[in-house]
Amino acid sequence: MKGETDMKKKTIALFLAAMMAASMAACGSSSDSSDSAAASSAAAESTEAEETGDTASGDVTNAEKPLVWFNRQPSNSSTGELDMSALSFNDDTYYVGFDANQGAELQGQMVMDYIEANIDSIDQNGDGVIGYVLAIGDIGHNDSIARTRGVRSALGTAVEKDGAIVSDPIGTNTDGSSDIVQDAEVEIGGKTYTIRELASQEMKNSAGATWDAATAGNAIGTWSASFGDEIDVVVSNNDGMGMSMFNAWSKENEIPTFGYDANSDAVAAIAEGYGGTISQHADVQAYLTLRVLRNALDGVDVDTGIGTADDAGNVLSDDVYKYVEDERSYYALNAAVTADNYEEFTDSTAVYEPVSNQVDSETKSVWLDIYNASDNFLSSTYQPLLEKYDDLLNLDVEYIGGDGQTESNITNRLGNPDQYDAYAINMVKTDNAASYTAILSQ
Ligand code: BGC
Repeated sequence: MKGETDMKKKTIALFLAAMMAASMAACGSSSDSSDSAAASSAAAESTEAEETGDTASGDVTNAEKPLVWFNRQPSNSSTGELDMSALSFNDDTYYVGFDANQGAELQGQMVMDYIEANIDSIDQNGDGVIGYVLAIGDIGHNDSIARTRGVRSALGTAVEKDGAIVSDPIGTNTDGSSDIVQDAEVEIGGKTYTIRELASQEMKNSAGATWDAATAGNAIGTWSASFGDEIDVVVSNNDGMGMSMFNAWSKENEIPTFGYDANSDAVAAIAEGYGGTISQHADVQAYLTLRVLRNALDGVDVDTGIGTADDAGNVLSDDVYKYVEDERSYYALNAAVTADNYEEFTDSTAVYEPVSNQVDSETKSVWLDIYNASDNFLSSTYQPLLEKYDDLLNLDVEYIGGDGQTESNITNRLGNPDQYDAYAINMVKTDNAASYTAILSQ
């Protein structure tokens, strides 16, 4: 992979050098090659765009301005079906997230690998049942659903209904009688064990905020008080909830706990027994979130600085993201972070080196909301990254923080959309896209 990337970089560097030589020759007016003519006319066009700054001025309606959905993909919260009318609201609309299925599979595999490697010591009460509890983030969020499915599938506890793995919470299942999950039989080192999902719950607080870390901390308190010696593994749809359970109970009891997001505190906790986490490459996602807006504002190809190097040399290799055209979505790829490699991931807010070069475009203004200002991942990893990239991309971003439950508190803050050149939206509910696009269409 790395060789491939280096090769790609080299090819791009060579191409840029050739372009430069060609356009210099054109300036000297001695070349008649069609390549150099194309290069100089492209250069002239981009200078013109810079001078006039005519990309998102007063005569562009809000409905035509660049729009990026991020982190919560417009989709039906019951069926997961993508909301294509939101995703293709205008020609400059995209979604930026990460590959939920690839990440979910990795998370499940990471937990299973851990169980296999530690089979001699993992079964706390020696009853032959490896019991785990699962913190579910949001039953109507496709990332959360994928992670629940990924864990159940890798551990063998999944049950299918209508061709899909059931992702509902089970409440408690200490006797293995649930019909939402099943007991798995696994053979490790010549011995047969049962793997059982003892309990799972959506971590939603009384006010309605999901992925709620405090709720997860309380849940592990309740679970451990009634069947603590049966819990051998703790799994969570994210690190916010995972760390809350780790700090409340599993650290002291030395129970491996697994999360998702690779927030800095969770990565650091691996040294203290946190089992592992998944990096969803927030450094790449935060870049893409602002980059697609930058490109649309500059009127350049959307691939600029993404699959194709920009003038500053920013470029991503295809081992860190993919673009799915018919979903109008960019997805960062995930990586497992465990005791073997966590030292490479200690700062979750460091910009991704291949896209860390300052661009030279005119400053534009962006309205951007974070649906829940107290969400650990968004506030401690994603927003700090966005704040670094907004400087590198010359975007003047206004950050609006929501409470995680009231969509109208956020939409009310979009009272004057005319003021901005572009919008970046992180919804409370994945099915609420129309409440934003209606404002932009007014
Ligand atoms: C993250 C969660 C976060 C959620 C917010 C997910 O991608 O993994 O930690 O709570 O996004 O929408």
